Amino acid sequence: MQIVKLHTIDSTNDYLKRESKLGNISKDTLAWAKYQSQGRGQMGTSWQSEKESNLTFSIYRKSRRLSVGNQCYITMAASLAVYDALDKLMLKKISVKWPNDIMSDRKKIAGILIESVIKSNTLDAVIIGIGLNVNQTNFENLPKATSIKEQLGIHFHLEEILQLLISQFHTYARSITSGDFASIKAAYEDRLYRKDKPSTFQRSNGEQFVGIIRGVNTSGQLILEEEDQILNTYNLKELSLLF
Ligand code: BTN
Repeated sequence: MQIVKLHTIDSTNDYLKRESKLGNISKDTLAWAKYQSQGRGQMGTSWQSEKESNLTFSIYRKSRRLSVGNQCYITMAASLAVYDALDKLMLKKISVKWPNDIMSDRKKIAGILIESVIKSNTLDAVIIGIGLNVNQTNFENLPKATSIKEQLGIHFHLEEILQLLISQFHTYARSITSGDFASIKAAYEDRLYRKDKPSTFQRSNGEQFVGIIRGVNTSGQLILEEEDQILNTYNLKELSLLF
Protein backbone atom coordinates (compact mmCIF):
# COMPACT_ATOMS: atom_id res chain seq x y z
CA MET A 1 0.00 0.00 0.00
CA GLN A 2 1.26 3.43 -0.95
CA ILE A 3 1.40 5.90 1.96
CA VAL A 4 1.07 9.65 1.39
CA LYS A 5 1.96 11.87 4.34
CA LEU A 6 0.34 15.27 4.35
CA HIS A 7 0.99 18.14 6.71
CA THR A 8 -2.32 19.99 6.46
CA ILE A 9 -5.29 19.11 4.27
CA ASP A 10 -9.00 19.85 4.34
CA SER A 11 -9.98 16.19 4.77
CA THR A 12 -8.06 13.02 3.89
CA ASN A 13 -11.29 11.50 2.49
CA ASP A 14 -11.73 14.51 0.20
CA TYR A 15 -8.07 14.45 -0.79
CA LEU A 16 -8.30 10.82 -1.93
CA LYS A 17 -11.57 11.49 -3.75
CA ARG A 18 -9.98 14.37 -5.66
CA GLU A 19 -6.85 12.39 -6.47
CA SER A 20 -8.87 9.45 -7.75
CA LYS A 21 -10.97 11.72 -9.99
CA LEU A 22 -7.75 13.13 -11.43
CA GLY A 23 -6.63 9.56 -12.17
CA ASN A 24 -3.67 9.89 -9.81
CA ILE A 25 -4.34 6.72 -7.81
CA SER A 26 -3.40 3.41 -9.38
CA LYS A 27 -3.25 1.19 -6.29
CA ASP A 28 -4.43 1.03 -2.68
CA THR A 29 -3.34 4.26 -1.03
CA LEU A 30 -3.34 5.58 2.51
CA ALA A 31 -3.38 9.34 3.05
CA TRP A 32 -2.32 10.45 6.53
CA ALA A 33 -2.63 14.09 7.59
CA LYS A 34 -1.06 15.67 10.65
CA TYR A 35 -3.91 18.14 10.62
CA GLN A 36 -7.27 18.38 8.84
CA SER A 37 -8.82 21.82 8.53
CA GLN A 38 -12.24 20.42 7.56
CA GLY A 39 -12.33 16.90 8.94
CA ARG A 40 -15.73 15.34 8.31
CA GLY A 41 -17.78 12.98 10.44
CA GLN A 42 -20.87 10.91 9.73
CA MET A 43 -24.15 12.51 8.68
CA GLY A 44 -22.67 15.90 7.84
CA THR A 45 -20.95 16.45 11.20
CA SER A 46 -17.39 17.70 11.57
CA TRP A 47 -14.49 15.75 13.08
CA GLN A 48 -12.49 17.75 15.61
CA SER A 49 -9.00 16.57 16.42
CA GLU A 50 -6.20 18.37 18.27
CA LYS A 51 -3.25 19.19 16.00
CA GLU A 52 -0.62 16.40 15.81
CA SER A 53 -2.05 14.53 18.81
CA ASN A 54 -4.21 12.02 16.98
CA LEU A 55 -4.41 9.89 13.87
CA THR A 56 -6.50 11.14 10.96
CA PHE A 57 -6.10 9.11 7.79
CA SER A 58 -8.02 7.50 4.95
CA ILE A 59 -7.49 4.36 2.94
CA TYR A 60 -8.44 4.21 -0.74
CA ARG A 61 -9.14 0.64 -1.73
CA LYS A 62 -10.25 -0.67 -5.11
CA SER A 63 -13.51 -2.55 -4.69
CA ARG A 64 -12.29 -5.75 -6.41
CA ARG A 65 -15.74 -6.75 -7.67
CA LEU A 66 -17.39 -6.17 -4.29
CA SER A 67 -21.04 -5.42 -4.97
CA VAL A 68 -22.76 -2.32 -3.63
CA GLY A 69 -24.95 -4.65 -1.53
CA ASN A 70 -21.90 -6.00 0.29
CA GLN A 71 -20.57 -2.60 1.27
CA CYS A 72 -21.76 -3.00 4.84
CA TYR A 73 -19.06 -5.65 5.33
CA ILE A 74 -16.45 -2.95 4.71
CA THR A 75 -18.00 -0.99 7.57
CA MET A 76 -17.89 -4.06 9.81
CA ALA A 77 -14.35 -5.05 8.78
CA ALA A 78 -13.02 -1.51 9.30
CA SER A 79 -14.57 -1.39 12.77
CA LEU A 80 -13.09 -4.79 13.62
CA ALA A 81 -9.64 -3.72 12.41
CA VAL A 82 -9.65 -0.69 14.73
CA TYR A 83 -11.11 -2.78 17.55
CA ASP A 84 -8.38 -5.43 17.21
CA ALA A 85 -5.61 -2.83 17.12
CA LEU A 86 -6.91 -1.32 20.38
CA ASP A 87 -7.26 -4.78 21.85
CA LYS A 88 -3.60 -5.49 21.06
CA LEU A 89 -2.70 -2.32 22.97
CA MET A 90 -4.64 -3.80 25.93
CA LEU A 91 -7.30 -1.13 26.10
CA LYS A 92 -10.19 -2.10 28.34
CA LYS A 93 -13.90 -2.31 27.60
CA ILE A 94 -13.67 -1.81 23.85
CA SER A 95 -16.84 -2.11 21.79
CA VAL A 96 -18.33 -1.03 18.47
CA LYS A 97 -21.25 1.33 18.69
CA TRP A 98 -23.35 0.66 15.62
CA PRO A 99 -22.55 1.31 12.87
CA ASN A 100 -18.89 2.16 13.39
CA ASP A 101 -17.98 4.24 16.41
CA ILE A 102 -15.26 2.58 18.43
CA MET A 103 -15.80 2.92 22.16
CA SER A 104 -13.50 2.45 25.11
CA ASP A 105 -14.96 2.56 28.58
CA ARG A 106 -18.28 3.83 27.13
CA LYS A 107 -16.58 6.82 25.47
CA LYS A 108 -15.85 7.31 21.79
CA ILE A 109 -12.19 6.76 20.93
CA ALA A 110 -12.43 6.46 17.14
CA GLY A 111 -14.82 7.31 14.33
CA ILE A 112 -15.00 5.91 10.82
CA LEU A 113 -16.38 7.56 7.69
CA ILE A 114 -16.75 5.29 4.68
CA GLU A 115 -17.52 6.71 1.26
CA SER A 116 -17.92 5.01 -2.10
CA VAL A 117 -16.33 5.92 -5.39
CA ILE A 118 -18.89 5.04 -8.07
CA LYS A 119 -17.79 4.84 -11.72
CA SER A 120 -20.22 3.95 -14.53
CA ASN A 121 -22.86 2.98 -11.97
CA THR A 122 -20.66 0.40 -10.25
CA LEU A 123 -18.68 0.50 -7.05
CA ASP A 124 -15.12 1.26 -8.15
CA ALA A 125 -13.44 1.88 -4.79
CA VAL A 126 -14.12 2.68 -1.17
CA ILE A 127 -12.52 5.37 0.95
CA ILE A 128 -12.27 4.42 4.60
CA GLY A 129 -11.57 7.45 6.79
CA ILE A 130 -10.45 6.89 10.36
CA GLY A 131 -10.07 9.35 13.19
CA LEU A 132 -8.43 7.77 16.24
CA ASN A 133 -7.75 9.75 19.39
CA VAL A 134 -4.24 8.83 20.51
CA ASN A 135 -2.52 11.42 22.73
CA GLN A 136 -5.20 14.07 23.26
CA THR A 137 -6.28 14.34 26.89
CA ASN A 138 -8.33 17.52 26.91
CA PHE A 139 -11.82 17.02 25.49
CA GLU A 140 -13.45 20.13 26.90
CA ASN A 141 -16.33 20.35 24.46
CA LEU A 142 -16.58 16.60 23.89
CA PRO A 143 -17.45 14.95 27.23
CA LYS A 144 -18.14 11.60 25.58
CA ALA A 145 -14.71 11.35 23.91
CA THR A 146 -11.57 9.59 25.08
CA SER A 147 -8.12 8.64 23.77
CA ILE A 148 -5.55 5.88 24.12
CA LYS A 149 -3.49 8.12 26.42
CA GLU A 150 -6.49 8.89 28.61
CA GLN A 151 -7.27 5.18 28.92
CA LEU A 152 -3.74 3.80 29.36
CA GLY A 153 -1.74 6.76 30.62
CA ILE A 154 0.84 6.10 27.92
CA HIS A 155 1.96 8.48 25.18
CA PHE A 156 2.35 6.71 21.82
CA HIS A 157 4.13 7.61 18.60
CA LEU A 158 1.43 8.06 15.97
CA GLU A 159 3.45 6.13 13.39
CA GLU A 160 3.58 3.08 15.68
CA ILE A 161 -0.21 3.02 16.07
CA LEU A 162 -0.68 3.60 12.34
CA GLN A 163 1.48 0.55 11.51
CA LEU A 164 -0.54 -1.56 13.93
CA LEU A 165 -3.79 -0.42 12.30
CA ILE A 166 -2.44 -1.09 8.80
CA SER A 167 -1.58 -4.67 9.71
CA GLN A 168 -5.11 -5.22 11.11
CA PHE A 169 -6.60 -3.71 7.96
CA HIS A 170 -4.60 -6.16 5.83
CA THR A 171 -6.01 -9.06 7.86
CA TYR A 172 -9.61 -7.96 7.31
CA ALA A 173 -8.96 -7.01 3.66
CA ARG A 174 -8.05 -10.68 3.14
CA SER A 175 -11.33 -11.80 4.77
CA ILE A 176 -13.28 -9.45 2.49
CA THR A 177 -11.43 -10.65 -0.61
CA SER A 178 -12.09 -14.26 0.29
CA GLY A 179 -15.80 -13.46 0.80
CA ASP A 180 -15.77 -14.53 4.43
CA PHE A 181 -18.76 -12.29 5.19
CA ALA A 182 -20.49 -14.55 7.71
CA SER A 183 -17.47 -14.58 10.05
CA ILE A 184 -17.03 -10.83 9.71
CA LYS A 185 -20.68 -10.30 10.64
CA ALA A 186 -20.48 -12.73 13.59
CA ALA A 187 -17.32 -11.07 14.97
CA TYR A 188 -18.85 -7.63 14.53
CA GLU A 189 -22.08 -8.60 16.32
CA ASP A 190 -20.06 -10.06 19.17
CA ARG A 191 -18.42 -6.70 19.79
CA LEU A 192 -21.52 -4.50 19.57
CA TYR A 193 -21.93 -1.84 22.24
CA ARG A 194 -24.94 -2.47 24.53
CA LYS A 195 -25.83 -5.72 22.78
CA ASP A 196 -28.57 -7.63 24.61
CA LYS A 197 -29.12 -4.80 27.12
CA PRO A 198 -32.25 -2.64 27.25
CA SER A 199 -31.28 0.79 25.90
CA THR A 200 -33.06 4.03 25.13
CA PHE A 201 -33.22 5.13 21.50
CA GLN A 202 -34.59 8.18 19.77
CA ARG A 203 -36.33 8.08 16.40
CA SER A 204 -35.67 10.86 13.86
CA ASN A 205 -39.08 12.38 14.84
CA GLY A 206 -37.83 12.79 18.45
CA GLU A 207 -39.83 9.91 19.92
CA GLN A 208 -37.93 7.89 22.55
CA PHE A 209 -38.34 4.17 23.11
CA VAL A 210 -36.61 1.23 24.75
CA GLY A 211 -35.15 -1.52 22.64
CA ILE A 212 -32.56 -4.25 22.86
CA ILE A 213 -29.80 -4.54 20.24
CA ARG A 214 -29.82 -8.10 18.92
CA GLY A 215 -27.44 -7.75 15.97
CA VAL A 216 -27.33 -6.55 12.39
CA ASN A 217 -28.82 -8.02 9.20
CA THR A 218 -26.92 -8.79 6.01
CA SER A 219 -27.53 -5.21 4.82
CA GLY A 220 -25.87 -3.84 7.96
CA GLN A 221 -29.12 -2.50 9.43
CA LEU A 222 -29.47 -2.61 13.20
CA ILE A 223 -31.86 -5.26 14.55
CA LEU A 224 -33.73 -4.08 17.65
CA GLU A 225 -36.05 -6.11 19.80
CA GLU A 226 -38.91 -3.92 20.91
CA GLU A 227 -42.14 -4.40 22.83
CA ASP A 228 -43.74 -7.87 22.59
CA GLN A 229 -40.42 -9.25 21.31
CA ILE A 230 -41.00 -7.72 17.90
CA LEU A 231 -37.82 -7.33 15.84
CA ASN A 232 -37.42 -4.14 13.79
CA THR A 233 -34.55 -3.07 11.57
CA TYR A 234 -33.16 0.46 11.29
CA ASN A 235 -30.88 2.55 9.11
CA LEU A 236 -28.46 5.05 10.60
CA LYS A 237 -30.61 8.07 9.77
CA GLU A 238 -33.66 6.59 11.50
CA LEU A 239 -32.47 6.49 15.09
CA SER A 240 -29.81 7.30 17.64
CA LEU A 241 -28.82 5.47 20.79
CA LEU A 242 -29.25 7.74 23.82
CA PHE A 243 -28.18 5.48 26.69
C1 BTN B 1 -17.59 9.94 12.77
O1 BTN B 1 -17.48 9.28 13.81
O2 BTN B 1 -18.49 10.78 12.64
C2 BTN B 1 -16.64 9.66 11.66
C3 BTN B 1 -15.36 10.42 11.82
C4 BTN B 1 -14.34 10.16 10.73
C5 BTN B 1 -13.15 11.06 10.84
C6 BTN B 1 -12.07 10.70 9.87
S1 BTN B 1 -10.58 11.58 10.16
C7 BTN B 1 -9.92 11.02 8.65
C8 BTN B 1 -11.04 11.04 7.64
N1 BTN B 1 -11.14 12.34 7.00
C9 BTN B 1 -12.29 12.95 7.32
O3 BTN B 1 -12.62 14.09 6.93
N2 BTN B 1 -13.02 12.19 8.13
C10 BTN B 1 -12.38 10.91 8.39
